[in-house]
Amino acid sequence: MSKIGKLFGIGVGPGDPELITKKAIRVINEADVIFTAASTKNNYSLALEIADPYISNNTDIQSLSFPMIKDKIESAKAWNTNAEKIASILKQGKNAAFITLGDPVTYSTFGYILMAMEKVMPQADIEIVPGITSFHAAAARCNKILVEAEETLAVMSGAYGGENIRAIAEKVDKIAIVKAYKNTKDINKALKETGFYKKSIAISRCGRDGEEIIDNIDDLEKRKPDYWTLILAGK
Ligand SMILES: C[S@@+](CC[C@H](N)C(=O)[O-])C[C@H]1O[C@@H](n2cnc3c(N)ncnc32)[C@H](O)[C@@H]1O
Repeated sequence: MSKIGKLFGIGVGPGDPELITKKAIRVINEADVIFTAASTKNNYSLALEIADPYISNNTDIQSLSFPMIKDKIESAKAWNTNAEKIASILKQGKNAAFITLGDPVTYSTFGYILMAMEKVMPQADIEIVPGITSFHAAAARCNKILVEAEETLAVMSGAYGGENIRAIAEKVDKIAIVKAYKNTKDINKALKETGFYKKSIAISRCGRDGEEIIDNIDDLEKRKPDYWTLILAGK
């Protein structure tokens, strides 16, 4: 039987093509197969665009579908199907790299792959190559310190509006809210209620074409923010 290949979960950084690590570049360059994530509505992968200059000519590139649905059973089926595709490559003795934007252990589709691989191929050899997260890139872009001294940072999703902010506000000094592209009215309301509003800033498409720094987060309510929008807030 041939040697089993290795799976790498690779963060390619937040979008600025220069914010990718040397290790990610090497592993992408050496991989036999590159897996990318695409929603079932959209086959485009920004991670692939960033990785593209480092992919060797004979590398096989495969797109995996991740349906954006709430049904947990259907989602788990799709993750298992994707993990089986990866497992079949590893069983051929090939190395595979699953590339993802930002960091692979931070709100990433790679998390679903990791979970499903444990079921589908528990013996798989998996290595994670960290990437620069969107909120680290955003703090740097805005010349903002994320946390210092004894401060506490909460990183949360804003997908359900302000509920996470209200739940944690008393216990933390700074908040990074990713997925701040919908329910922005309630996010802003919660930031106002909890004293985080004045020191908040939003950034869309950080390090990419169309980047915008939005000093007054009320502006988010007046337009439909880009999916690639996050808020950094402090007391
Ligand atoms: C599914 S999460 C991916 C997070 C990513 N794995 C990371 O490490 O930052 C998608 C959210 O990340 C944030 N995001 C990712 N890249 C961004 C960028 N370049 N500019 C602003 N926000 C970004 C947005 O809030 C977006 O809705």
